[in-house]
Amino acid sequence: MTSSTFLRQDLARALAAQGLLTDPAWRAAVEAVPRELFLEDAVFRPHGTQWEPVRSEQLGDDEWLRKVYSDTTWVTQVDGISAREAEGPVPGRPTSSSTLPSLVLRMLELADVREGDRVLEIGTGTGYSTAVLCHRLGDEGVYSVEYDEEVAAAAARHLRAAGRSPHLVVGDGLRGHQDGADYDSVIATCAVRSVPPSWLWQLRDGGSITTTVSGWMLGSGLIRLVLDDEGVARGRFAADPVSYMLARPHERPPRSTFYAHPGSTRNARVSPDLLDDWTGLFVAQLGAPSAELVRTETGLALVDAATGSQAWTEPDGEAWTVHQDGPLRLWDQVEDALDTWQEAGSPARTAFGMTVTEWDQVVWLGDPDGPCWRLPS
Ligand SMILES: C[S@@+](CC[C@H](N)C(=O)[O-])C[C@H]1O[C@@H](n2cnc3c(N)ncnc32)[C@H](O)[C@@H]1O
Repeated sequence: MTSSTFLRQDLARALAAQGLLTDPAWRAAVEAVPRELFLEDAVFRPHGTQWEPVRSEQLGDDEWLRKVYSDTTWVTQVDGISAREAEGPVPGRPTSSSTLPSLVLRMLELADVREGDRVLEIGTGTGYSTAVLCHRLGDEGVYSVEYDEEVAAAAARHLRAAGRSPHLVVGDGLRGHQDGADYDSVIATCAVRSVPPSWLWQLRDGGSITTTVSGWMLGSGLIRLVLDDEGVARGRFAADPVSYMLARPHERPPRSTFYAHPGSTRNARVSPDLLDDWTGLFVAQLGAPSAELVRTETGLALVDAATGSQAWTEPDGEAWTVHQDGPLRLWDQVEDALDTWQEAGSPARTAFGMTVTEWDQVVWLGDPDGPCWRLPS
């Protein structure tokens, strides 16, 4: 029988070999927290365009434990259906998961959490990352908010089974949680389109927010913002290609159907292939923050949820034609942003940073006085 202790040590070794777990205290936490308690006995795996439940009894104990300790994100809920209750493959989007341990640890190391800190985690999920935090800070120092009642109830069960009792809150983490303020750190394990002001208000001066900033094109960037004593938080994006599911209130609204209306037609100045690049997609999203990206057979389409505006591209020999329709010229917006990025030499994500105040938030390129894009409020 494969021992869970042995697999935890193996996982810790593998993460250390990737340059993570430089801090012995985090390594000890990975070696101590039994991830199997947080996955119960079922997870989802991709099955074509659907999600198929996999149960421990199907695999046997050894194979199940090896899956549990692989450095993988295990989806545990799809559109509100948990892996335990699913009777077969289900369509939909993942709505909760146990994040891959390397990312959990990368976020914690980036957040620079230290003994004695009080941390507000947004997105308890299975409770695994919460338990890792508790191992380092003690239960008293950890506050964790989960939006989904069923997920929160399961996390509370898992944490109890692991002998942990942090402050668990069921609700919208975008409001933070006043009771534990002022926090040293806010760490979000779901992505946001912009940083909720409540996180700033509930942070001590010098405290930090570690989160992924994403949007409806699913371009995403990991950042740590540090709050100064004038209430302004600033930071620079990390290089890691990290994505998280969007916070539920920030999820894409149902969009109008893409109808490929010819609209006004011109040659595209930049290739839509640029949106296949991690940073290119992030920049395109900065240019058209309310547009959803849809891949079509021949190119891509942008559909704006608020106005119904659409833009779509199609190949024209070596070049591209773009069609735009509706009050917003979505492709013009995307091209302007991509032009700015290309004029700066198409730098990686670390060239971008963010400044957040209670009233306004912008992503800038180069330095805070460089070209910038306002994030949606
Ligand atoms: C990627 S999972 C969290 C993974 C978790 N940290 C773990 O280790 O298992 C993201 C979680 O964020 C939750 N979530 C989404 N929006 C939220 C919000 N506004 N407030 C609190 N939790 C939210 C989801 O329900 C989901 O459970």
